[in-house]
Amino acid sequence: MTGAAGFIGSHLVDRLLERGCTVLGVDNMKLGRRANLAHALENKRFKFVELDVNDAPIFLRTVRQQSHDKPFDITWHMAANSDIRAGVADAEVDLRDTFMTTFNVLKVMRELKIPQIAFASTSAIYGMHDKKLIEDLGPLFPISNYGAMKLASEACISAALEAYLQRAWIFRFPNVVGSRSTHGVIYDFVQKLKANPNELEVLGDGTQEKPYFHVTDLLDAMLFIVERATEKLSFFNIGTAETVTTVRYIAEAVVKQMSPAAAIRYTGGNRGWVGDVPKFNYSIQKLKRLGWSPRLTSQAAVDRAVEEIVAEAVR
Ligand SMILES: NC(=O)c1ccc[n+]([C@@H]2O[C@H](COP(=O)([O-])OP(=O)(O)OC[C@H]3O[C@@H](n4cnc5c(N)ncnc54)[C@H](O)[C@@H]3O)[C@@H](O)[C@H]2O)c1
Repeated sequence: MTGAAGFIGSHLVDRLLERGCTVLGVDNMKLGRRANLAHALENKRFKFVELDVNDAPIFLRTVRQQSHDKPFDITWHMAANSDIRAGVADAEVDLRDTFMTTFNVLKVMRELKIPQIAFASTSAIYGMHDKKLIEDLGPLFPISNYGAMKLASEACISAALEAYLQRAWIFRFPNVVGSRSTHGVIYDFVQKLKANPNELEVLGDGTQEKPYFHVTDLLDAMLFIVERATEKLSFFNIGTAETVTTVRYIAEAVVKQMSPAAAIRYTGGNRGWVGDVPKFNYSIQKLKRLGWSPRLTSQAAVDRAVEEIVAEAVR
């Protein structure tokens, strides 16, 4: 697994180990934290190596060494730049960490004959659309470099399937929340309140609304898809779909939990930052037809994540 020490990757490592898998995790620790892997590192079936996936020779050598007695059967590719705003300010960031990581992962998979990939894509590939976001919507014009480089990664995976890969699962999901977050709106608000417990500045007018999805539901959905979707190339939207939460709700929930006397100051406008898709209508009908539905509504996911992230911050 690439990006193994990050937010989603580290939860996924725990889940795969619980299922009896042997896992090699790599991460360059740009956003990843060793603490996220504290539990996994106690397990003999887990090996962690700190490296940059874009240091191709070192990455290849490491995977080759670790797969000496037993070849890997799947790569979970979770590494990427997860800070969309950083990629808007400097396009190189997403070229390197969102696209080139995929390119180099595929190269190593070809060399070592790893047959299957499970890839964390994003709802950001869809860009701005009035239409319901269904998987076969097009043409796709992302509005962030992050979305563009994820879409390019999907395209490279599709091409690799023609040449040497046996199977790929692509997961497109929006804002995931939960413990061990390394970024995202709840995490940002908590960090801001930690720095200034008297005031929370919120970009936009607070009316931006999106579906938020708890990491436990995401893991269930990804594993469900890998077990049930048997096509050579499977691609699914994953999310809470029908329910959404406003930024205002999230700001108030974080303030209530962390610093009840703090004032909330909105900067105004209905777009938080360039590259942000303020409202979207996400469909998970395809996933529902496969037999999976989320357990938590967007609001329940936010409530749970606010508790978890505030508890981690004040620990
Ligand atoms: N969290 C979300 O809301 C969300 C939504 C859609 C898609 N995703 C995707 O899911 C995946 C996991 O996201 P996350 O939220 O856990 O983010 P994260 O930043 O916590 O995890 C990504 C990890 O990848 C590592 N990484 C980045 N570049 C690397 C490189 N060149 N070599 C080795 N490691 C590298 C980082 O250090 C980090 O630990 C990412 O691909 C992300 O784009 C996340």
